[in-house]
Amino acid sequence: MKSIVFFNNKGGVGKTTFTFHLGYALERAGNKVLFVDLDPQCNLTAHICDEETIDKAWSEKGDSVYKAVEPIIKGAGDVKLIEPYKVENRNIWIFIGDLLLSDFEGELSNAWTQILAGQERGFRVTSAIYRIIQEFASKNDIDYILIDVAPNLGSLNRAVLLGCDNFVIPMIPDLFSLRGSQNLGRVFADWIRNYYTSKQRIGVSKLQFDTPNGTPKFSGYILQQFNVYRSRKTKAYERWSSQIPDYINEYVIGPLNATDLKILDLVLTIPDYKVADFKNYHGLVPMAQTSLKPIFELTSRDGVIGDHTRYVNDCRREFEQIANNIQSIIK
Ligand SMILES: Nc1ncnc2c1ncn2[C@@H]1O[C@H](COP(=O)(O)OP(=O)(O)OP(=O)(O)O)[C@@H](O)[C@H]1O
Ligand SMILES: [Mg+2]
Repeated sequence: MKSIVFFNNKGGVGKTTFTFHLGYALERAGNKVLFVDLDPQCNLTAHICDEETIDKAWSEKGDSVYKAVEPIIKGAGDVKLIEPYKVENRNIWIFIGDLLLSDFEGELSNAWTQILAGQERGFRVTSAIYRIIQEFASKNDIDYILIDVAPNLGSLNRAVLLGCDNFVIPMIPDLFSLRGSQNLGRVFADWIRNYYTSKQRIGVSKLQFDTPNGTPKFSGYILQQFNVYRSRKTKAYERWSSQIPDYINEYVIGPLNATDLKILDLVLTIPDYKVADFKNYHGLVPMAQTSLKPIFELTSRDGVIGDHTRYVNDCRREFEQIANNIQSIIK
């Protein structure tokens, strides 16, 4: 069982679309997959569930990720176990997202101060979402847990990162995306180091509940190509994409290496640190969103005609390869 989060401070880099497709591809390769939507915008949820399902999860007795942490927010106790939604006839589950999840940010921010002060409650609150994921995933023999987050360096994302086994950075080869990745390594290294030393200090025996190690492995980057227009596969694109490995080296690997914790042993085995190329699928992406299916499962009934059939088949082959690669790197 491995959890992976796709993380970038820059928005709109295709995190959600990629996470969704990778999850379905991993399931087709024989794995049990659990998605967790921890972006309060709920785009991943909207990609998988119909409105009726989401409405039910948000109702009073429903099971959304907010419902899990609601007792903590309201000062009424610890995290509440919730059931994920199972996709019909598939080995795919999702913990349904919720716009109200942003209410948890403040609580997590206080919890961080408590962690640094060596207080047990800080660990309890910070590990809340981690614990509901672990509980379900271990009881149900989940192979891959894929977590989707919003593009920011807030306290919710800090708790998610510290609760993950692996993180991957999606990159668009342009000035903004490279700039957006410059502070990632430094911020992550800070979080990891602080959590690690605070946990050492308080001692595991004081924590009567499951807490994450807080040492997620950096597992490479994904090169997103969907903003590259056919007519403009420009020099600029090649210039920026060729700079990515150097950026990763300097701004991500460098600061993480300085923590002296074992979080780089995976990435250093990956050539140029790249785990996947995510191609431009143009109009097939909105078609997949409307049909609640990945591109590689779209058929003529979903509106795929003519040339599109070829793109659907290309996408299937590409994601089979991506799933293989991820499975061989993250075991
Ligand atoms: N491979 C692709 N080919 C074409 N369009 C894509 C591709 N991937 C994503 N898109 C489009 O780009 C937009 C952003 O994608 P997505 O929502 O996956 O990004 P994100 O990084 O999750 O965004 P956010 O930071 O807001 O969560 C969407 O409108 C989506 O339809
Ligand atoms: Mg998203």
